[in-house]
Amino acid sequence: MKLFIDTASVEEVREIASWGILDGVTTNPSLVLKAGAEFEPTVKAMCALVKEVSAQVTASDFAGMQEQAKEYSSWHKHVVVKVPMTVEGLKTLAWCKSKGIPTNTTLVFSVAQAVLAAKAGATMISPFVGRLDDIGEDGMKLIEDIRAAWDRYDFATQILVASIRDVEHVRRAAVAGAHICTIPYKVFLELPKHDLTEKGLQKFLEDWESVQSK
Ligand code: E4P
Repeated sequence: MKLFIDTASVEEVREIASWGILDGVTTNPSLVLKAGAEFEPTVKAMCALVKEVSAQVTASDFAGMQEQAKEYSSWHKHVVVKVPMTVEGLKTLAWCKSKGIPTNTTLVFSVAQAVLAAKAGATMISPFVGRLDDIGEDGMKLIEDIRAAWDRYDFATQILVASIRDVEHVRRAAVAGAHICTIPYKVFLELPKHDLTEKGLQKFLEDWESVQSK
């Protein structure tokens, strides 16, 4: 399973990349706003740190998305063009596929949308689990359903679990067989922790001190 960080902060990417476990980054316009980042230099800096960086188009028509896809993919070979799950987005996914430009379909909320994006040739689809939880649904059930559909067909499209809120989402994504999780920085910081790891390490260190003082 690949691990991506969901952020527009180059510092956060640098920190998690230093752990030796980071495969990529996803960004979106809201994250860029929150980070107060400049889009192009931020994407380029992230591309120097990891191999797959999703940069989201902001046009809503096919021609505009095509232009942005061309522009973003010229910035660096690690750019993945992020396209919304709309009819214009589907046209853009198919066009990018024909040009060899990798894509990530964002704002996927149903199996039907996932199938359409896969048929259009998306490299990745991003079902948003946290936003489904927010409206009282079980977001991870969508991942399990998409995985079940994928097991029946030969879609090459990778299932990227997005809108992750906690460690439990990451656990369920791994058990379901998702290809990728994109994880916010604050959730990344929780992933290495376990009470028994902390207690066990404390006891080992105390016992080692006793060995030394003998
Ligand atoms: C994914 O690519 C999106 O940037 C992200 O996961 C959205 O998450 P949110 O629902 O927390 O905004």
